[in-house]
Amino acid sequence: MNQKQTRKAVAVLLMLGAAALANAASKTIELPSDGVQLKASSLPGYAKAQALCVACHSAEYMQYQPASAPRPYWEAMVKRMKGVFNAPVDDADIPLIVDYLAKTYGSEQSK
Ligand code: HEC
Repeated sequence: MNQKQTRKAVAVLLMLGAAALANAASKTIELPSDGVQLKASSLPGYAKAQALCVACHSAEYMQYQPASAPRPYWEAMVKRMKGVFNAPVDDADIPLIVDYLAKTYGSEQSK
């Protein structure tokens, strides 16, 4: 390649790059709505969960858990949120939150 050809090749590459960028900018990604609220309940764990469980993610995460999930599953989940992600959950509140989750999203739902 002589110098002129090289410059032409560079120009073409630049144009391709710009086209790729323009293309990327015009694409939109549809994410599922992230505004899912916790299901209301008169259980005391509801208020706790609202205060402690939807700060990092929406209630969609609870919604997508299996409806057959038993109480120990939810207990493990809450403890994992606390232990692994430092969710600011008091140990004293764990049973209340687990009770709410098992009865609202898990195997103890009254259908
Ligand atoms: C400090 C941030 C934070 C708080 C507070 C928090 N979570 Fe999470 N949670 C996460 C992260 C990060 C993930 C995703 C990580 C993963 O998938 O392993 C997650 C995932 C989940 C999932 C999806 C299942 C899974 O295994 O990933 C559920 C259900 C869940 N959280 C429930 C809760 C509940 C219940 C609470 C309240 C006790 C809570 N979270 C509080 C950070 C948090």
